[in-house]
Amino acid sequence: MYQIKSSQRIAPAVWEMDIMAPEVVERALPGQFIILRIDAKGERIPLTIHDTNNKEGTVRIIFQEVGKTTKRLANLHQGDFLKDFLGPLGQPSEIEKFGRVVCVGGGVGTAVIYPEAKALREAGNRVISVLGARSKEFLILEKKMQEVSDELYITTDDGSYGRRGLVTGVLKELLDKDKVDLVVAIGPVPMMKFVSQLTREYGVKTVVSLNPIMVDGTGMCGSCRVRIGEETKFVCVDGPEFDGHQVDFEELTVRNSRFREEEKVALEGHKCHQ
Ligand code: NAD
Ligand code: FES
Repeated sequence: MYQIKSSQRIAPAVWEMDIMAPEVVERALPGQFIILRIDAKGERIPLTIHDTNNKEGTVRIIFQEVGKTTKRLANLHQGDFLKDFLGPLGQPSEIEKFGRVVCVGGGVGTAVIYPEAKALREAGNRVISVLGARSKEFLILEKKMQEVSDELYITTDDGSYGRRGLVTGVLKELLDKDKVDLVVAIGPVPMMKFVSQLTREYGVKTVVSLNPIMVDGTGMCGSCRVRIGEETKFVCVDGPEFDGHQVDFEELTVRNSRFREEEKVALEGHKCHQ
């Protein structure tokens, strides 16, 4: 059993939770994920590791309440236990000295890009971060991202904080201004698609995280199958990070919405039992 050491809401429907799991902390690398299960009957959900605390032996996850399990998770408190907390899983991010790197974090995707931005900076890169949120109240981790970035730009869709507009607007300006060696984009699928389309025009290598398509994260359900160039890959085993220019975003978008009806039914059932 894995104890919850702390749990707090950091934005509307977004939660930050520290879980006691020293064996995960010891081996975790940026880009990797865990699979948790609340109880013996619960579904398995994969979540990317946001941060670790070696001294405390805790793993920090940040998640959005979107379905039945994440809503149940949000209702747990400090001192409660999770049945399973398995990891680290997946391939770690490619961290080396690229030069000038732009890290684009969209909404909750910012939680995933943080460990990567931190590691890229420690590897000697100049890290320029662009964070996008629907409005000021949805912006997360501004201070932490500031600490690991040489430059930080913020956009909100409604203009309530930072620049008005989408992350792609600032990214285009950065690409026009100076040479960029790598773009890492993590956020909603449409954001990663449009970032990849843009950077392709500039010939800039782009990495995206296809975490949202994973279901059980075990390599067995086959749900996370994606076409990367000419090859078929499993996101939970071969990824979650891939070359954005090789991803078939049309197929990904269809696959990503496949279980929407089942998720809605599960959520309705959950509400009825509350
Ligand atoms: P959101 O819909 O509020 O979008 C966040 C920002 O992304 C926007 O403010 C905008 O700047 C940018 N964006 C969105 N659509 C865009 C488009 N079409 N073109 C350019 N930029 C665009 O995000 P949210 O609700 O906070 O995040 C939830 C989404 O993030 C879910 O879809 C979830 O699956 C995904 N997510 C992805 C990962 C990952 O590893 N890729 C991790 C966590 C969450
Ligand atoms: Fe089931 Fe990858 S999520 S096989």
